[in-house]
Amino acid sequence: MSEVIIQVGAFARAAQLMGRPRRVAVITDDNVAAHYLGPMMRALKGAGHEAVSLSLAPGENSKSLDSYGRILGFLADSGLTRTDTVLALGGGMVGDVAGFAAATYQRGVDLVQVPTSLLACVDSSVGGKTAIDLPQGKNLAGAFWPARLTLIDPLLLRTLPYDHYRDGLAEVVKYAAIRDRALFDLLPYEEVEEEGIIRCCVDIKRAIVARDAHDHGERQLLNFGHTVGHALERLSGYELSHGQGVAVGMAVMARASERLGLCAPGEAGLLIGMMHTLSLPTDCPYGPREIFDAMQADKKRGGQHITLVMMHALGDCRLHPMPMQEALAVVEAGCAP
Ligand SMILES: NC(=O)c1ccc[n+]([C@@H]2O[C@H](COP(=O)([O-])OP(=O)(O)OC[C@H]3O[C@@H](n4cnc5c(N)ncnc54)[C@H](O)[C@@H]3O)[C@@H](O)[C@H]2O)c1
Repeated sequence: MSEVIIQVGAFARAAQLMGRPRRVAVITDDNVAAHYLGPMMRALKGAGHEAVSLSLAPGENSKSLDSYGRILGFLADSGLTRTDTVLALGGGMVGDVAGFAAATYQRGVDLVQVPTSLLACVDSSVGGKTAIDLPQGKNLAGAFWPARLTLIDPLLLRTLPYDHYRDGLAEVVKYAAIRDRALFDLLPYEEVEEEGIIRCCVDIKRAIVARDAHDHGERQLLNFGHTVGHALERLSGYELSHGQGVAVGMAVMARASERLGLCAPGEAGLLIGMMHTLSLPTDCPYGPREIFDAMQADKKRGGQHITLVMMHALGDCRLHPMPMQEALAVVEAGCAP
């Protein structure tokens, strides 16, 4: 399995931790570049690596076929060979598109992830999923391509705007809800506790991915709140961020789980209360029928069936495969005031 290093200050040692000198193509975005590209390039060159860089425009629009093509062209122009490395320096957008380029350039080259957003630290930089969006939908092309090394330095999060930080908090809540009641009890956390919280989330993800790398079963637990969340993102024309969509999605699924008698009264309220404390939204801005219709277009649906993640207790979520029509009743239960 790929190596994950989580340590305050690890960024300063990134070039050394990369191993033997090689050609390194750093892919980043302009916001991240403004803070970290200079230091990263100097460190790589200082450690004997031959480093080149490409910066994309920030934002989900850059997780596109166009950027993917640009990166592949850049890797070829830079003379990258199969023994060289692509280094993704950025949030989930950069990690996903650079990762997909690494997975496919010359049939696959080494990938190092240096995540700079909370979401990327706790989620997208581990587990090996890479992707780009197509005009027809999110993440429609991609590959499983685990990073050789993921280097997580919480100090890099100090420049992340709070709205984006909050998106990552929704994923932290997700890990607590699906697997770890003790993690839930640590929320909301202080800055000094951040490294431990990230480690906890990464450990949960790695354990699940180790048992189900290709998303055939247990890994789908990581979709808690995401099926409804993606539908909400789509309905809002992507005005709603991923974290906001997931937060409302978790609230819907928790309410539904309680109302359908799957978990004890009060559990959903605890989850929703914590999301309020973290300034995450929980009210559903669309009706159940609209959400259901948007869910039908979700790529995770297999035929006339869907697998929803329901909460049996805080820290214990389970997969519920069901006919599509039954999912409508679940969403209705979760959206009712
Ligand atoms: N591969 C996976 O397993 C997986 C899992 C979850 C989400 N994702 C994907 O991740 C993406 C979202 O990731 P994200 O929330 O990190 O978004 P993002 O990469 O777009 O980053 C959010 C914003 O923060 C800025 N930023 C990032 N780090 C910064 C820093 N340290 N300082 C200043 N600005 C910084 C970026 O420039 C951007 O404007 C989506 O495309 C989603 O599909 C992938």
